Amino acid sequence: MAKMEDIVSLCKRRGFIFPGSDVYGGMAGTWDFGPLGVMLKRNLMQAWWNFWVDQRDDMYGVDAAIIMNPRTWQASGHVDTFNDPLVECKECHARLRADKLVDGATESITTDEFLAAGVKCPICGKQDWSEIRKFNMMFETHVGPVNDEKSVAYLRPETAQGIFTNFKNVVDTIYPDLPFGIAQQGKAFRNEISPRDFILRDRECSQMEIEYFVRPDDWEKAFEKMRAAQHVFLEEIVGLPVEKLRDYDVPEEDRAHYSRRTVDIMFDYPNGEEELMGLAYRTDFDLKNIERESGKSMEYRDKNTGETFIPHVIEPSIGVERLFLAVLSGAYWEDGDRIVLKLSENLAPYKFCVSPLLKNKPELVAKAKEVYRQLKEKYIFVTWDDSGNIGKRYKKQDEIGTPKCVVVDFDSLEDDSVTVRDRDTTEQTRVKISEL
Ligand code: GAP
Repeated sequence: MAKMEDIVSLCKRRGFIFPGSDVYGGMAGTWDFGPLGVMLKRNLMQAWWNFWVDQRDDMYGVDAAIIMNPRTWQASGHVDTFNDPLVECKECHARLRADKLVDGATESITTDEFLAAGVKCPICGKQDWSEIRKFNMMFETHVGPVNDEKSVAYLRPETAQGIFTNFKNVVDTIYPDLPFGIAQQGKAFRNEISPRDFILRDRECSQMEIEYFVRPDDWEKAFEKMRAAQHVFLEEIVGLPVEKLRDYDVPEEDRAHYSRRTVDIMFDYPNGEEELMGLAYRTDFDLKNIERESGKSMEYRDKNTGETFIPHVIEPSIGVERLFLAVLSGAYWEDGDRIVLKLSENLAPYKFCVSPLLKNKPELVAKAKEVYRQLKEKYIFVTWDDSGNIGKRYKKQDEIGTPKCVVVDFDSLEDDSVTVRDRDTTEQTRVKISEL
């Protein structure tokens, strides 16, 4: 089983992920994706979009603004209820999330329950706590040149509201039949009290969300269908190990304020099991609230029957960083001093690495460049490596998950063949260049 520190170290060493603002000592809860990370991240996002939008006839995309009219967050309930329980150590003034300090506690933990648990401060070891207070996790900003109450706006804490607020626009331009979904990928911001576990809990993350609109009576069937499809995506498209995934039916007291049913799909991460994604039945909560706040009708009119009603919503929501970390944890494999990222071919940043056996033989380099150009034309995601010796190159390509290394040697000059080395088995086969 991969340890978190091994994954963090690999990510930094090979250019997948760096701490945000690294050069200034970092910025808690933020991370920067490097050259390899951005390729893997984009492959994941593309695989999601392709599976959920491109390949279906009932899904439409939007890309809404991050800063929305603040009435959005009043109507959605985030201003009043998007809170975490904050407790302060009176000795060292550390501010911590109370529910994360008590085993099995939920976000609704009370001060009495917290104090009864006899928790010691993990920073200074003392046991002298403030009352628990609710801490709103939305980042505030000001829009325009005046910083007053009227100019307050928020960085969106979920991409979902950009979908709900465009519900009518999509219906009035696309005329979709129910059931249909609207999908969005993009940044979301949460002022987490305790960002932790590498990229698992961040202050700035990317979400991929769908609001799937259904007839009110159809929600249970649609929920189960959506749940099964999530597993197909996670297991067959992304290739996460089935044994590391578990569905958790979230009890009522732990559900978000808008949800009448939630199933979290949990993943067995290196530091323990955590929520990878959520599937929620949001009823007509959001559209009704938008209707109340905006005064505009959110009703949907059935073209065949003429019936009008507010649709209900099934929402699958997944964070790109959590998916990224699950992919790395599932793919990380160690065999003695060989570290391999067993990424599926569709996710691997590079599909091939081409190199000449020796860097200082111009005839080998010229032939290898020819092979490189030929593969690059066909597959695009091909890398060139002539650094160090061949063993070092294999080591590097194994660590970044490149499925095949193609090596041009002296025989290649005679027989127009190359050695193709497989990442997972290390097996080497001779292949004609024309058949690559
Ligand atoms: N629109 C519903 C929603 O936002 P959520 O359970 O708060 O629900 C959905 O978030 C998903 O977004 C989570 O399952 C997780 O994958 C990701 N996510 C949420 N907060 C995150 C954070 N602070 N850092 C990284 N990912 C996060």
